[in-house]
Amino acid sequence: MGGWSSSWGTGGRVSRRAFVTGTFASALAGAVPLLGGPPAAAQPRPRAMVLRARPATVTLGRRTVRTWTYNDEVPGPQIRVMAGERVRAKLVNDLPAATTVHWHGIRLDFPMDGAPGFSQEATQPGKTFDYDFTVPDPGTYFYHSHVGTQPDRGLYGTLVVLDPREPLDYDEEFTVVLDDWLDGIDGTPDDALARLNASTDHDDTLRSEALGGVAAEMVHPLYLVNGQAPDAPMTFRTAPGRTVRFRVINAASDTAFRVALGGHRMTVTHTDGFPCRPVDVDTFLIGMGERYDFLTRLDSGAFPLVAIAEGKRGRAFAVVRTDRRAEAPASTVQVPELTERMLAYRDLEAPSSLDLPRPSRAITVTLGMRPSGNEWTMNDKVAGDHLRLRVDRGETVRLILDNQSPMWHPMHLHGHTFQLRLADGSGPRKDTVNIKPRQRLHLDVLADNPGEWMFHCHNLYHQEQGMMGAIGYGPARTPAPAHAGHRPQQHDRKRKRRR
Ligand code: C2O
Ligand code: CU
Repeated sequence: MGGWSSSWGTGGRVSRRAFVTGTFASALAGAVPLLGGPPAAAQPRPRAMVLRARPATVTLGRRTVRTWTYNDEVPGPQIRVMAGERVRAKLVNDLPAATTVHWHGIRLDFPMDGAPGFSQEATQPGKTFDYDFTVPDPGTYFYHSHVGTQPDRGLYGTLVVLDPREPLDYDEEFTVVLDDWLDGIDGTPDDALARLNASTDHDDTLRSEALGGVAAEMVHPLYLVNGQAPDAPMTFRTAPGRTVRFRVINAASDTAFRVALGGHRMTVTHTDGFPCRPVDVDTFLIGMGERYDFLTRLDSGAFPLVAIAEGKRGRAFAVVRTDRRAEAPASTVQVPELTERMLAYRDLEAPSSLDLPRPSRAITVTLGMRPSGNEWTMNDKVAGDHLRLRVDRGETVRLILDNQSPMWHPMHLHGHTFQLRLADGSGPRKDTVNIKPRQRLHLDVLADNPGEWMFHCHNLYHQEQGMMGAIGYGPARTPAPAHAGHRPQQHDRKRKRRR
């Protein structure tokens, strides 16, 4: 399989045939194991790509903004690799601040996790860091900075891990990365965080029943599909009758999206990279850090792909076009699918081959909010003096997440794909799970990847306001690592809000 090295492009359209004729065929002959993968030494050395983090001017639809990017693009370059192969990426830090790259959802070796204060010290301006790891599992992933509010700038990109034994039958695939955007329009994300921290009177008018109450605290002026705003939308072009796999990624900081494709149902096949029993729906909700893959056979025409900012005003919007002559839908078009059958977690079930062993013990993690309203807690602890859950290699533990805070949280675990146990049966494998206020969820984690792994809310502003813990193997190292981004808040103010 010498011919294949990781390839980088700008995302969007990829014809499956290209893989079948080139790399795909040779990978099949080379029998790349799906899980685990061969030792790194046995692998070909793919060329290293360069991720140059630096300020740039980018156009998001009709607007031009100054922001921080990888390689001057938003999103950064798409990385495509075959499961079992290596990703080699040299981070070159040309930012005026320290940074890291985190590979969200990948079960990689701990030193490559890009978690500042945990797996590495952040890379200083003018310095480089060589990321080099094997990707064990196929699926839809992304990468992003893990320092401070940097992910709410343009510092993210997609990572698609192809399955050498892809069981799904489809003709083509599109990657759809969703984002909420304020950088360069409403100041910077640091300004936004400072505004949040300066106030105890938070907006509780952005509400969503599907999210159990307050959906968000911030208003982002723009919502993007693959870096493009609704005023100059991304267009995905293909032919009618083709079956397309959409890989949808929510890279936003404070926005859940409700996604639908006008005129089509969708068959959801994967969540957070891992397969689930296919389920047909009209729409789904995707929290920050989550991913969904769906298949659909396209009609003839030009169709709106919409992602409503749940509980907010505004939407991300793209066009799926299979007919050159068809009139493009307006970005404001009504899409009835948005209020029809919505995917629920109870619809999702991992194939039994992916079921994790039953847990031998349970740990409760209570999510809370301190009275200031500007600190989000895990078992009453915040980043800087974070909650550490000890596990030992080989055991399966059940995390009982108990949300006693007044907002929903997309909770994300690094380095592992847990199993969500909704009832007694199976449940999906996921690395990010939305939990509503007053809800309890059971997550089973197989401790098979030693390290000190962040476990946090993927609402970036909640993370920066303390909602950051860790799962660590064996006894704690001392002193406990501090999360670089968090600054302590005042505790004495009252917050008017909610419920
Ligand atoms: Cu997208 Cu700590 O992760
Ligand atoms: Cu949160």
